[in-house]
Amino acid sequence: MCGIVGYVGTAKSVEVLLGGLRRLEYRGYDSAGIAVLDGDGSIHTRKHAGKLAVLLNDLDQHPIANGSTGIGHTRWATHGGPTDVNAHPHLGDDGKLALIHNGIIENFSELKEELLAEGYTFESETDTEVAAKLLGREYGRAHDLELAFRTVVARLEGAFTLLAVHRDEPDVVVGARRNSPLVIGLGDGENFLGSDVAAFVEFTRRAVAIGQDQIVAIRADSVTVTDFAGAPVTTEEFDIAWDASASEKGGWSSFMAKEITEGPDAVANTLRGRIVDGEVVLPDLDRIGDEALRGITRIVIVACGTAAYSGILGKYAIEAWSRVPVEVELAHEFRYRDPVLDDSTLVISISQSGETMDTRMAVQYASEHGARVLSICNTQGATIPRESEAVIYTHAGPEVAVASTKAFLAQVAALYLFGLHLSRVRGSLDAAEIEANAAELQAVPEKLGKVLESSESIAQLAGWMADTRAVLFLGRNVGYPVALEGALKLKELAYIHAEGFAAGELKHGPIALIEPGQPVFVIVPSPIGQPELHKKVISNIKEIEARGARVLAVAEEGDAFVPPLADFVIPIPLAGPFFEPLLAVAPLQIFAMELASAKGLDVDQPRNLAKSVTVE
Ligand code: G6P
Repeated sequence: MCGIVGYVGTAKSVEVLLGGLRRLEYRGYDSAGIAVLDGDGSIHTRKHAGKLAVLLNDLDQHPIANGSTGIGHTRWATHGGPTDVNAHPHLGDDGKLALIHNGIIENFSELKEELLAEGYTFESETDTEVAAKLLGREYGRAHDLELAFRTVVARLEGAFTLLAVHRDEPDVVVGARRNSPLVIGLGDGENFLGSDVAAFVEFTRRAVAIGQDQIVAIRADSVTVTDFAGAPVTTEEFDIAWDASASEKGGWSSFMAKEITEGPDAVANTLRGRIVDGEVVLPDLDRIGDEALRGITRIVIVACGTAAYSGILGKYAIEAWSRVPVEVELAHEFRYRDPVLDDSTLVISISQSGETMDTRMAVQYASEHGARVLSICNTQGATIPRESEAVIYTHAGPEVAVASTKAFLAQVAALYLFGLHLSRVRGSLDAAEIEANAAELQAVPEKLGKVLESSESIAQLAGWMADTRAVLFLGRNVGYPVALEGALKLKELAYIHAEGFAAGELKHGPIALIEPGQPVFVIVPSPIGQPELHKKVISNIKEIEARGARVLAVAEEGDAFVPPLADFVIPIPLAGPFFEPLLAVAPLQIFAMELASAKGLDVDQPRNLAKSVTVE
């Protein structure tokens, strides 16, 4: 969703802002704009509906004055359609001030009435323009941008990150944050603001996260952060671990193609330093402590989308290893049903971005109701880890494609590390069992690398199936979340109706969907690791094959039962039951990507989707 960049320094801000917006493109957006102050005290804005390329093209043909203070925005429409007029920045104070916004101002109608009654006029349908006019009015009274911000934020309800520049204060960008993300980048003689560190990682690796209800003012050589009342607050600097080049597409056809191949590294980097001599070492959990972990009676995993499917895999493994009951709940369902929580419940949130509003609200709810909260997150400085008691960072590196791939694998790896740690603390597994599982986990990157070698044949299959209208996915036990994830990927990328089912549920309904030619992916458990389940899934395959389904199987190498029954087999290396899903999911990611490509679709930015869903 909306991406925000701010810059003050000595460089030409147009380039810095556009570079930042390009790096934030992955968030999903439908219009883009910038406002730049020149040295003569004028504001120059340019904004357009559509992709960043439209704005770039216009700026190429009709350049604007290029001062060294400015703000930039990519908008994901909420109030008012994606048009040039509704795009940010919006102006206030007779065009002397420009403002950008991420979030939703819930009381904007009432504020608009107030301003209309005072004679203000509005061009757009946005809630943001109301904030811009209000800020303009307050600036007229205070003649100080920070002071004016304080008055404005006191009037706003809802979620917002606001950034503004005023021509009478050409050396400062002021921002405010409530419930929407904002991070500071500290440069040398220049400073930055961004929705996340990707916005400025090209220029600096030093960052500061801004807390809830805080106002920040950046100048070339200073940064001040206060609360909404103006009292200074203490901030903490951190180093950005991401490499700037990691968020470049390089020679790849898409970020998604690149990120799928980074899957083995994402897992390896998440495990690095956390398995020592067969033991799991997680100092990340010190803030919760072993005693509290021993007292846990129940775990609730909250997440959305792909992250929630990693949670289901986590549930199977953590419960089996630690014998603590684990539930998985979609974050947006969790907090609205009055769940039973106390300090013996551990809530684990999973979020790649650390900004998904639904997940964040679930974390907040869990903390307020006395539960212990651990988060698994891929983005430093993001809101969810800041608001959790402890955090296990995945080290998947920046994930740019909207559809999550390598982050999913890293999330599962982090959940498994946690499960093994918990099992040691609670004594539910002995050292040898932990060591064996840790070794399986460490073997995943290499095995996954082998799976990726079959990319070409999967691409061929996808090419043959470009006209397919519906695909079903069946899986059992740990294969079930894999089926769900395979179906989600196909929906979001290729816009094909796809559904994942628990294979055991087949006869209770889904089998009615089977007609001659219906493609069905089946995730087949290992005949060695899960012989009982293997038999059952083979029976399921027979049932659908008898009704004419086209069976596309993901099965263990050497599983002799599958080829005679399947139209296409994707082999995966031998691995223990909990580890096979990490190998089985990659072919489904590749299949969805290739099918979407065969249909000529944008696999990195599918329609209507945002990578970081920062509104509820
Ligand atoms: C969006 C993305 C999904 C992602 C989900 C959760 O819906 O399109 O790919 O899985 O958000 O995102 P998170 O950042 O919380 O993992």
